[in-house]
Amino acid sequence: MVFTSFLEMVENKFSLHIVDQIIENSDLPSGGSYTSVGTYGHHEMIQLVVQLSQRTNIPVADLVRTFGEYLFTQLIELHPQFIQENSSVFSFLQKVDSYIHVEVRKLYPGAELPAFEYETPVPGTLIMSYRSSRPFADLAEGLINGCIQYYGENINMVRENLDEGTAARFILTEAEVK
Ligand code: HEM
Repeated sequence: MVFTSFLEMVENKFSLHIVDQIIENSDLPSGGSYTSVGTYGHHEMIQLVVQLSQRTNIPVADLVRTFGEYLFTQLIELHPQFIQENSSVFSFLQKVDSYIHVEVRKLYPGAELPAFEYETPVPGTLIMSYRSSRPFADLAEGLINGCIQYYGENINMVRENLDEGTAARFILTEAEVK
């Protein structure tokens, strides 16, 4: 589903021609014909994004962040209950590790999911730490941004990288209501 969404985004934001080009120029064990229920190696996604970056001159990190925002809307269209159960960004985000991804694992038994840890040092601040065996901190950032945009809340995000894409801290602060 992540792969079909990605190619859909490339088609919408660029063109079908670019979709064909990036598939042809990547060395994909799957051959590039994805289904929404299949499981594919993350190296295929990295190759597709790198190819797209070369063709569009847009940095990989920007493309992955934009994709994360797009993917968020796709995921909640498929699974609207997660939005219905949470009335705010902080409540939603704090459910990702202990509940949403747990449910995801039941629905998609092959899913490989990252781990998140949470800290709430003071009211109005949530620190969400990402750790994965795969380098998708940019995707996490895009998904968090997608979540903030979806709820329409005024939240500021600062990111601290803990290594090359497999670990990062996102410090989220609610704007003060005056
Ligand atoms: C803002 C909230 C969320 C964040 C920050 C987040 C973060 C991530 C990240 C970064 C990955 C990539 C894998 C990795 O890093 O190792 C991932 C994978 C995934 N997430 Fe989430 N996620 C969020 C919400 C959701 C929701 C709402 C759903 C579905 C209802 C979902 C379903 C999935 C699925 C299916 C995968 C793919 C697993 C695989 O590749 O095998 N996530 N998530």
